[in-house]
Amino acid sequence: MTTKKKNNIHILTIETSCDETAAAVVRDGREVLSNIISSQIDIHTLYGGVVPEIASRNHIERINTVIEQALNEAALKLCDIDAIAVTYGPGLVGALLVGVAEAKAISFATGLPLVGVHHIEGHICANFIEHKDLEPPFMSLVVSGGHTHLVNVLDYGKYEILGRTRDDAAGEAFDKVARAIGLGYPGGPKIDKVAKEGDPDAIDFPRAKVRNEEYDFSFSGLKSAVLNYLNSEKMAGREISVPDVAASFQKAVTDVLTEHSMNAVKSCGCSKFALAGGVASNSALRASMAAACKEAGVELYCPSPIFCTDNAAMIGVAGYYEYIKGNISDLSLNAVPGLKLGER
Ligand code: KG4
Ligand code: ZN
Repeated sequence: MTTKKKNNIHILTIETSCDETAAAVVRDGREVLSNIISSQIDIHTLYGGVVPEIASRNHIERINTVIEQALNEAALKLCDIDAIAVTYGPGLVGALLVGVAEAKAISFATGLPLVGVHHIEGHICANFIEHKDLEPPFMSLVVSGGHTHLVNVLDYGKYEILGRTRDDAAGEAFDKVARAIGLGYPGGPKIDKVAKEGDPDAIDFPRAKVRNEEYDFSFSGLKSAVLNYLNSEKMAGREISVPDVAASFQKAVTDVLTEHSMNAVKSCGCSKFALAGGVASNSALRASMAAACKEAGVELYCPSPIFCTDNAAMIGVAGYYEYIKGNISDLSLNAVPGLKLGER
């Protein structure tokens, strides 16, 4: 480890990049004192997906209460806090702006240092919360509603992106297929559940490869293949088995994610692998990665589901490592919806 640890550092952290209004207090980068998540899922379910304008308005209404709850649950006051960390990208611009404006206001009013955090970095750092022994270097697969990245974590805050999706993110594919088979939003957990009743080998959906890019992913062809299958079965008057479609689709996704991940592990000679992001809570992906890692003699790390989907604790962990490196933002910090990993 190249970063010198500092002790008894309390980070108050805010995450509003999508549809969860979240705040947390994290001590010394690894200990979560509070983790408050006010989910807007019920509201966005009515529209079949996240409506950005509605997300922003709800963040504004909830953010102060959520921060207050985070401090109360940690039994701390603002004067006990050492720094404010906030997600400033990537994400929905209006949603990000609420968190960034709030963090800047607290920083301005209290004089506390402000730390801008990359959302994906937060997802990767979620693994540090429950795995106190985990230190870089390791390989990580970040699979969420907006991102699919295979990342070589070289050190704290130092990343090499080996592969990414060329079109839909893995979680996006789950959400779109779930809608097509009538399961509704958010699709990932619903597909995960019904797939348990289905046969993963019932339908042979494609496993896409991206030419000349061994580690890249493509899920839009798979989504089209599912839609074509549903149409042709309907035209032929055959009944569709939702559990079989869900299980076969899920297997097609998890096979590709696992294969690319293991190729990356082998070529880099890594001994540790960390799953991250909302889709990392998928039971089939966890099982497939666990089996592949066991065979390859690689240690697999996964956060608990509450730290896989969006939360502020993971941002506090990443924020701590940026803070102790001296990466402090000034009040010109702005929301950057398309922020790239490794950029500041
Ligand atoms: O990380 P996250 O909360 O938000 C983003 O940063 O995008 O991920 C949300 C995504 C959604 O697409 C959701 O359907 C998916 O994670 N997801 C799952 C599961 N739980 C959440 N996908 C598959 N299986 C699950 N159990
Ligand atoms: Zn996320």
